[in-house]
Parts: sequence; structure tokens; C-alpha cells
Amino acid sequence: MKEQTLALIKPDAIAKRYQGLIIHEILEAGFEIKAMKMLHLTEEGAKAFYAVHKEKEFYEPLVEFMTSGSIIAMILEKENAVADYRELMGPTDPGAAAEGTLRRKFAETTRRNAVHGSDSPDNAKKEIAFFF
Ligand code: CMP
Repeated sequence: MKEQTLALIKPDAIAKRYQGLIIHEILEAGFEIKAMKMLHLTEEGAKAFYAVHKEKEFYEPLVEFMTSGSIIAMILEKENAVADYRELMGPTDPGAAAEGTLRRKFAETTRRNAVHGSDSPDNAKKEIAFFF
């Protein structure tokens, strides 16, 4: 059965003009893009989206980074979309990401890591509702 996930292209990747390459890889990997928009998160929006991390030491710099420029939000669809998109992204730390993953190719650091994808089908529904 087809599944949807929420994908973000983050401000570091947009600043480096990687958005076209990232979207190309997503399409090549067999995802359908069901919706897409470019926006600039407010501080309130970034804090709400990452509220689950609010006790972490990286929360404030993460919010600052995510509000530092525009982002692209997309609804991606295919069978097993949540897990398959996480595999396409690679792990949070690009230094640990396998050859061929988006974070290996496009991410700078664990914070400035180019892309985001929902980590479970339940969170995908919540994150899609947040942006769309
Ligand atoms: P993301 O998949 O969007 O989910 C939470 C984000 O917090 C993560 O990508 C990174 O941008 C950031 N993040 C997670 N862990 C760390 C960390 N240890 N140090 C800095 N930033 C982090």
C-alpha cells in the first residue's frame, strides 16, 4: 500500500542551490511528489515543529538554523515511503552516511544536514498536517 512521508530541504541546501539536485534524486528513487512549497519558517513555527527536541542542547541552534533561510516542504508518496526516504537521506550525521545518500552528498554537519524526513508513519501524518 502506498504511504506518504514529509520531506524538507533545509536552508543550508537551498543556500548552496542543491534543491534541484535533491528533487532529482527523490524522483529518480521512485517517489511521487504529491505537494511542494517553499516557505520561511518563523521562530514560533520552527520551535513547534521541533518541540520534541526542546530539552536537547541542540534545540536553540537548530531553531536558529531552520529560520535562517527558506526551506522546501514536500509530501512524498510510494510504497514504504517513510523507511525508504530515511534510507535515501542517510543518518543525521553526514559523516556516518553511506555513499549515494542525500546527506553524504549534500549535508555539511549533523545540524546543517540538508534534508529532513519523518521518522515514523504516525509522525509523517502529523508533520504533513503541520505544513499542508
Ligand atoms: P532532523 O532529521 O531534521 O531532526 C532533528 C534535527 O536536529 C536533525 O535533523 C539535525 O538538524 C538536528 N540535530 C540532531 N542531532 C543533533 C546534534 N547532536 N547536534 C546538532 N544538531 C542535531
